[in-house]
Amino acid sequence: MEVPENEAEAPSAIESFEDMNLSKDIMMDIRHREYDKPSPIQAQAIPVILSGRDVLGCAETGSGKTAAFSIPMVQHCLNQPPLRQGDGPFAIVMAPTRELAQQIEAEGKTFSRSSKGFRTAIIVGGTNMYEQRSMLRGGVQIIVATPGRLLDHLQQGNTNLARVSFVVLDEADRMLDMGFEPQIREVLMNLPKRHQTLLFSATMPSEVEALASEYLNKPVKVKVGQTSAPTANVSQHLEKVVDGEKVNRLVAMLIGEKNEATKLGSDMPMTVVFVERKNRADEIAELLNAEGVPAAALHGGRSQAEREAALQDYKEGRCSVLVATDVAARGLDVKGVAHVVNMDLPRNFEDYVHRIGRTGRAGMSGRSTSFYTDRDSFIVAQIKRALMELEAGNAFAFATGKEARAKEREEAKAWREGRQHQAAVLETDSGVTIAVEDKFKHMMVSAPAAAGSAAPTAGVADAAWSDDDEDEDGW
Ligand SMILES: Nc1ncnc2c1ncn2[C@@H]1O[C@H](COP(=O)(O)OP(=O)(O)OP(=O)(O)O)[C@@H](O)[C@H]1O
Ligand SMILES: [Mg+2]
Repeated sequence: MEVPENEAEAPSAIESFEDMNLSKDIMMDIRHREYDKPSPIQAQAIPVILSGRDVLGCAETGSGKTAAFSIPMVQHCLNQPPLRQGDGPFAIVMAPTRELAQQIEAEGKTFSRSSKGFRTAIIVGGTNMYEQRSMLRGGVQIIVATPGRLLDHLQQGNTNLARVSFVVLDEADRMLDMGFEPQIREVLMNLPKRHQTLLFSATMPSEVEALASEYLNKPVKVKVGQTSAPTANVSQHLEKVVDGEKVNRLVAMLIGEKNEATKLGSDMPMTVVFVERKNRADEIAELLNAEGVPAAALHGGRSQAEREAALQDYKEGRCSVLVATDVAARGLDVKGVAHVVNMDLPRNFEDYVHRIGRTGRAGMSGRSTSFYTDRDSFIVAQIKRALMELEAGNAFAFATGKEARAKEREEAKAWREGRQHQAAVLETDSGVTIAVEDKFKHMMVSAPAAAGSAAPTAGVADAAWSDDDEDEDGW
């Protein structure tokens, strides 16, 4: 935990929910939720948030960040004088995608189910504006929203910020990356003077820290475990494929897994397949269905109803494979996901961290398979470095975010122009051979890295969702 210089110490971690001084109702709800004890980020962040401080919270994927802000948020709302006619909410959570906002709302609600008259509104695009308006006008304690739609309602006067004293930006780095900064600033700039702001993500690039220094009041940085790095709960595999062979390889792999499971009398492992483009997601899902592997597609090109149906089918076991673009990379928590496949590797390392983090959650283990081609050497080198550091038990973090990627684009370009460089060949643990250009060999060193040290490069392009429409979360 880091406190700004000359600031009061932050409260120390509390290892049991009972000792957190939460309301009886919340305690009942935590028991009902069957959370026996706080996860490390919860133990550290909840006391700090309850003390009223601003927080920059960073902990690995699947480590319970949602409850780390939701539990104190409900407590904060219970401490406010009651809502009056015409009042806006006490708390706002913003998240980059609709499905994630819906999931946060559902989790948040589980901690306010025993609190009488407590209402949470879910405000996302692609759904009926009128229903949302009447919900907001009826008065709610908490709004969970995607930024664009929230702004629409604020501009129409359907709600207001006058009583907001608690704001959470989940996946803050992604929202900045997606260009939501103006909307976020609009909200943050118009808040009443006394308020608390929290930023959460598993990756914290420098832009987020810059936004934090502008809008947060002496934030306490709560960082737990490996941050901006893949979770150690996932065993990661790399597999070299020829570009034209990817589809065959994927289909063969998934049919193999299905047959194996059938032999054992069990269901096929729940799998998320990430692809780069929306139309590719549709094609692959269709093909898998034709091959007898039930699959659904989730991407920003589908209607909201279709998106929700796809996710529901997957969650409820009507299909074993979800083929998705990066719209599903952040925050989604589906119980039982055992395998993440990167059919196309993402263009930057932080997306890789979030994608493979759809498995190996809440202390469970998972596995990932990433297909790569010669074009992916750069990110493969980063993954390899991450694997080495994890194996050696070293603390490390990659530089992430826009600035880091701009720098990286230059280096990647230089690399493309200098293809003649000698390639080093490395054997991975899984026996896969990876060619690493000379230029990137510095990333392969297995010497212990200092805690928090950043690799000189990270993530390739901002254009990962370049075929997007203008939709607010249209990957
Ligand atoms: N104290 C707890 N005890 C048991 N399970 C928990 C606890 N807190 C959270 N969980 C479970 O852990 C899982 C992951 O939580 P959550 O989605 O909040 O992770 P996250 O840190 O936000 O991950 P990401 O970075 O991917 O968004 C959820 O299924 C949640 O129900
Ligand atoms: Mg989360």
